[in-house]
Amino acid sequence: MSKNTFGALAFLGIALAGEANAAEVKIAEASLVGNGIAEFVPEGFDIIGTPELILSHDPVKTGEIPAAWKFTPRYETNDNGCIVATIAVPEGTSLYGGGEVTGPLLRNGKTIKMWNTDTGLYLVDGGKRLYQTHPWVMGVRPDGTAFGVLFDTFRKAELATGNDKIKFEAEGTPFKTYVIDRSSPQEVLKGLGELTGTIEMPPRWAIGYHQSRFSYVPEARVKEVAETFRKKQIPCDVIWFDINYMDGYRVFTIDEQQFPDPKRINDFLHDKGFKSVFMIDPGVKVDEDYFVYKTGKQQDVFVKDAYRNEFHGKVWPGDCAFPDYTRPETRKWWGNLYKDFLACGIDGIWNDMNEPSVFDGPGGTMPESCIHLGGGNLPTGTHGMYHNAYGRLMVEASRDGILAANPDKRPFILSRSNLLGGQRYAAMWTGDNGASYEHMRLSIPMSLTLGLSGQPFNGPDIGGFANETSPDLWGNWIGFGAFFPFSRGHASCDTSDKEPWAYTKLEEKESRMALERRYRLIPYLYTAFYNAHTDGQPVMAPVFFADATDASLRAEEQAFLLGNDLLVIPAFSENPALPKGNWERLSLVKGDTKGKYQADMRLRPGAIIPVGKVIHNLTENSFDPLTLIVNLDENGTASGTLYWDEGEGWGFRNGEYKLIDFIATQKGKTVEVAIKDANGSFPLDLGKVNVELLRNGKTYRASGTLDTPVIVKL
Ligand code: GLC
Repeated sequence: MSKNTFGALAFLGIALAGEANAAEVKIAEASLVGNGIAEFVPEGFDIIGTPELILSHDPVKTGEIPAAWKFTPRYETNDNGCIVATIAVPEGTSLYGGGEVTGPLLRNGKTIKMWNTDTGLYLVDGGKRLYQTHPWVMGVRPDGTAFGVLFDTFRKAELATGNDKIKFEAEGTPFKTYVIDRSSPQEVLKGLGELTGTIEMPPRWAIGYHQSRFSYVPEARVKEVAETFRKKQIPCDVIWFDINYMDGYRVFTIDEQQFPDPKRINDFLHDKGFKSVFMIDPGVKVDEDYFVYKTGKQQDVFVKDAYRNEFHGKVWPGDCAFPDYTRPETRKWWGNLYKDFLACGIDGIWNDMNEPSVFDGPGGTMPESCIHLGGGNLPTGTHGMYHNAYGRLMVEASRDGILAANPDKRPFILSRSNLLGGQRYAAMWTGDNGASYEHMRLSIPMSLTLGLSGQPFNGPDIGGFANETSPDLWGNWIGFGAFFPFSRGHASCDTSDKEPWAYTKLEEKESRMALERRYRLIPYLYTAFYNAHTDGQPVMAPVFFADATDASLRAEEQAFLLGNDLLVIPAFSENPALPKGNWERLSLVKGDTKGKYQADMRLRPGAIIPVGKVIHNLTENSFDPLTLIVNLDENGTASGTLYWDEGEGWGFRNGEYKLIDFIATQKGKTVEVAIKDANGSFPLDLGKVNVELLRNGKTYRASGTLDTPVIVKL
């Protein structure tokens, strides 16, 4: 980071002195744009200075702001030339959000910076800025009602979540602010989804376990890893191809020595029920004989320096040119590159280094003086302006291209960099963490905070990317890491092996058990992803989501919820704060409640969860049989939902899905479990269903077809 990167913002002394000269910016327009959603437009806002990249559409004005409205931002300019928006926070409010952050789940008293950065081990700037930008805060008041604030700009910024106010200071021209004021945190996240859009339904295989390394080469090594998963019966769906598969790190090429026949390795993986994900970085090697560089140059797609020469900077392949994704023509050119590349049977794409990371650039990125030409609704601007949007525009281009190449498939893209709203295009992982207990613990609040910031499909490198992983660290991490929405083991190039069998027999057994638990939960997990897609809900949620009025839960960040109904208490956790009520302990695989590293799992009172059998990849049938696990509430009732569809393609948009509501009712000494409602045309024959009712540590079993209620005797 160059000395002056945060010169305009960060030095608090200067900023405070500047406040004395602050000039107020009046609000020009304020209106409701949805149920409990207010839009504030400051004077001087212009769509050229602050183009829209966060919201999914132009919000429609629905009415006047009611007189009792509580949150109005105050705008001012300071003498650093920045725009400052401040919102007063009611006493006793717990603050969350900010996207990808280090530190605690509870964000009161924290300051983060928004300047996407390649930050190995999260060391840059003390972890105050990471790979992504999410100008978003959620507040939960003491009574459990909640609000959210979205500062609608992608410019370099600083976000301070103080106890009495939220202060957002950004470069550029005045930006809009959206405030959502609703009855619960869940409703606020729904509102965020209404503004920014939600994740698309992922292909089902993407919610299985993923195995990666920098890098599995050559072909024989990929086969060995894949075969070992099957031989050892450890569930896994995806094998990842990191940069060494390429020919000299040239994106969209495959090294002929390592992979003489790319289709052959993909066929091999597919035959064994695996999918493949290949990495594509933005940096294009400067090489006149290389088709990507050549066509890019011909079509003039690359970012220019301040003198309008093609900008070059070093990444893995040496000197690279960087696509200017602000240009519609560039995005089209980039997207078109995927068709031939994917044709050898590649299933998913990993977009990395897209902050962008430039090894020899100032602050590890491209100079702020570089020029992006823009087009469409994006004006010509400097890299200083577009920096935080670079990864977001790249994944939009990737997704459009992948979808055009394979229109009948759901794209799966994993990205390191992104912007609030960019969850519409890509899932994410939390970058280059390390093999330490500190980073293992941190991976929980990090993932939770992302889920509270509109990005539910996320997870860390389980086991830690950099440095050696001890058997105990792996065991602890996979024991709960099996329940991250995105669950992937990954390792840096200079470490020992980190596959589940790379440690001792104990960790191998514990890994198998943890992943078997994940795979039994697939019907439930897929339903949670459906809720993320339809309602913007987190897949992995903080414990306080179980009861937002319980003040003791507000800072809990060891235990977490998976969906609404399952509590996951990692083996390492000490005195976690747990929700009140009779959450019954759950066993999913024989021996799991006694496993050294297995998380303690509990089922919410009043919940029914749909659980499949143990499978080893998602081409196998989960429903053979389906098990409904029930925990009655104090009124003797429970309910739950199963969403299911083809797991691929777009038929679900035309009603080809099954959405089933289950209900359980106690009648004296028996409990009736029945289908309350079923919608959609997807042919799902549940056949004989098992019911397991948990009560005071005992399990009561019954089975039946659900054509008529299944009766469980207590
Ligand atoms: C970056 C990525 C890491 C990857 C490596 C090589 O450091 O964050 O996941 O393995 O590049 O491509």
